[in-house]
Amino acid sequence: MKLFSSYSLGKISLNNRVVMAPMTRCRAVDNIPTDLMATYYAQRASAGLIITEGVAPSKNGLGYARIPGVYSSEQVEGWKKVTSAVHEEGGKIFMQLMHTGRVSHPLNMTSDARVLAPSAIALSGEMYTDAEGNQPYPVPEEMTIEDIKEAVQEFVMASKNAVESGMDGIELHAANGYLINQFLSPVTNQRTDEYGGSPENRNRFAIEVAKGVVEAIGGDKVGIRVSPYGVFNDLAPFEGIDEQYLAFVDALNELDLVYLHIVDHSAMGAPEVPKSIKEKLKSAFKNTFIASGGLDKEKAEAILEAEEGDLVAFGRPFISNPDLVDRFKENADIASPDFDTFYTPGEKGYTDYKVAVAQ
Ligand SMILES: Cc1cc2nc3c(=O)[nH]c(=O)nc-3n(C[C@H](O)[C@H](O)[C@H](O)COP(=O)(O)O)c2cc1C
Repeated sequence: MKLFSSYSLGKISLNNRVVMAPMTRCRAVDNIPTDLMATYYAQRASAGLIITEGVAPSKNGLGYARIPGVYSSEQVEGWKKVTSAVHEEGGKIFMQLMHTGRVSHPLNMTSDARVLAPSAIALSGEMYTDAEGNQPYPVPEEMTIEDIKEAVQEFVMASKNAVESGMDGIELHAANGYLINQFLSPVTNQRTDEYGGSPENRNRFAIEVAKGVVEAIGGDKVGIRVSPYGVFNDLAPFEGIDEQYLAFVDALNELDLVYLHIVDHSAMGAPEVPKSIKEKLKSAFKNTFIASGGLDKEKAEAILEAEEGDLVAFGRPFISNPDLVDRFKENADIASPDFDTFYTPGEKGYTDYKVAVAQ
């Protein structure tokens, strides 16, 4: 099967086409990666490529409880344990850089951090905090030009730290309503300066981040994840969305980013992502294209065969099947994950899922 064939991603070689999708699991302690996290990722190292959970490039990006960062030396040291454990098992790993922007709460952050966004528009609903349970989302501060320049630099620094920690590359999280996506969408970006008001201006922050990071670590180490038509975190499709994303992809081509990773959360109850936008983005982007969302072995192989993707990412199946690739190879049963332990601390529902296939 194509699924099990090796693949050259930039300068690295992947053992197969199966990617572990980025998944926030909230197991960091004081925002520092732990030995338990190293065990979790090492257990899943037979994936051709692991993309880590969303990792904050700065204290302002730490919106959720117990998510890790990559802006302090302690965090870099923690990540070194993760990368060596994965590499020892023969795997490859990219770090997803996620700045949460307005999807945040001060109770999840240090006292000197700020909840920032392109515009001062609060997300509806509530955010879980360890200290006081669910709390309404705060109104974020509208970023000044200086804040924007600083955020770009934070991504650049974080990408260098990721490489220093042994990561094979990074993925910019430009999807699912977090900071970069907040700039891309007119729902969350109502600025009237050069960072808002037109498709070109809304793309500007994302392109500046991508350019800065590529200059720092090289395009062969930089992928990006996007979610056009996504509705998570209060986003919505908008007029001219296809054209805006196509212009964005043109800019990414110029920067020679190594992959474009597209989100489709329709298997999680979100509206369908039109097949046409996937096809347009795939044909516009010159390097590797990663498809994801609601896949099983057969659907993934069909995508590879139809050349609708070069790599295929699996999220929830990797939570409960650390040896997912072997299970696919052996046609073994696929275990269902326990939703209640997706974001809880400790090893339960994290590192205690069984390996089914004899090694
Ligand atoms: C527990 C959990 C945490 C997630 N965290 C992230 C994240 O940090 N970054 C991201 O881009 N997507 C995140 N996702 C979305 C997944 O990467 C993936 O797109 C989604 O689960 C759909 O794929 P699946 O049907 O194979 O699970 C998360 C999904 C789950 C279930």
